[in-house]
Amino acid sequence: MINVVIDGKNVSVPSGTSILKAARYNGIEIPNLCYDPELTVFGACRICVVEVEGARNLMAACCTEVAEGMVVHTQSASVVEARKMIIELLLANHPEDCMTCQKFGNCKLADYAYLYGVRKSSFAGEKRSEPVDTSNPCIERDMNKCIRCGKCVRVCSEIQGRHIVDFSSRGFGTKIATFFDMPLGQSECVTCGSCVAVCPTGALTEAVMKGQGRSWEIKKVRTTCPYCGCGCNFDLNV
Ligand code: FES
Repeated sequence: MINVVIDGKNVSVPSGTSILKAARYNGIEIPNLCYDPELTVFGACRICVVEVEGARNLMAACCTEVAEGMVVHTQSASVVEARKMIIELLLANHPEDCMTCQKFGNCKLADYAYLYGVRKSSFAGEKRSEPVDTSNPCIERDMNKCIRCGKCVRVCSEIQGRHIVDFSSRGFGTKIATFFDMPLGQSECVTCGSCVAVCPTGALTEAVMKGQGRSWEIKKVRTTCPYCGCGCNFDLNV
């Protein structure tokens, strides 16, 4: 077991545990956008940064393992400033249509903006402008709202074994696309909905629910996907 101190609390966790997990096991939640316990660690969003005493830079909690004697601060002034900056940078290239977004009330990016008091971005840069992909009858893709966390890519390949979407292009043009950037409805997507379930923003939403109500108004029932015969279970809105 490894002994560390997180926000003044003495914690013992197995070696190899990430700071994020060690904190979570002990009741301390660290913000995260690209992390999912079911998927490989990606370390893309950096909102999980924490301060480790003795380290020169802030560390991403999801992909930094605990070490004996480590002293971690998850809410120090520098951590909070860094998270605010990250949120502002994400919002700088994000539509401001939260009031009419299907994900309103269920968006992690909006939750963190609220939590850290970020009302708007102070950066005025170029914004993406891509057409919304409505070609799939069940899944709507609005890549203008994508924060490139890669959760949809990982869930599609690692859990569903489909590899329908992946990162494409570079730099500012980096995006998540199907092969040959074809509309989702023309790809081999089996509409399992796993990507929608893990997306932290309004980039991927259930097309059939558009304008039909907010997530907290909808009852979910556990059922089995009828499409490919794998027998995956998922939550169906009714
Ligand atoms: Fe750690 Fe995204 S949650 S980098």
